[in-house]
Amino acid sequence: MLIALASDHGGFDLKEAVKKHLEKRGFETLDLGTDSAAVSVDYPKYGELCGRTVASGEADLGVVCCGTGIGISMAANKVPGVRCGLCTDTYMATMTKRHNNANILALGGRVLTVDEALPIVDAWLDTEFEGGRHQRRIDMLDDIR
Ligand code: RB5
Repeated sequence: MLIALASDHGGFDLKEAVKKHLEKRGFETLDLGTDSAAVSVDYPKYGELCGRTVASGEADLGVVCCGTGIGISMAANKVPGVRCGLCTDTYMATMTKRHNNANILALGGRVLTVDEALPIVDAWLDTEFEGGRHQRRIDMLDDIR
């Protein structure tokens, strides 16, 4: 499984920690940038890039990080086919896979510590989509243009 990662400067440190964690767990990663916390960059560019990488099938899943996780999740969700869930705890992470089948997870580097964020990543990765009525609702999401 290939997991794409992207962040702005506000999410850079968390992206790096998530990347290390994913690789330790045996996942392949595709780092789409940014490459420093020191240089201010625009989160819409990185959210869109990760969104397009996942929506095209180039990567199976994605993780995006900015300061709050809000802006970069908004950008990713503009890409048709993306279901990006911004999560601040493991319950949200579990439910955004179980019910929303989120193909991108958004995290806030200025909101969460690494110790808080990594269990959120694991909860999202280790939960299965329930399907059934939730598939119908996801189809409704896809119909919104
Ligand atoms: C950048 O300062 C900050 O606005 C960004 O990382 C993010 O929090 C936006 O939603």
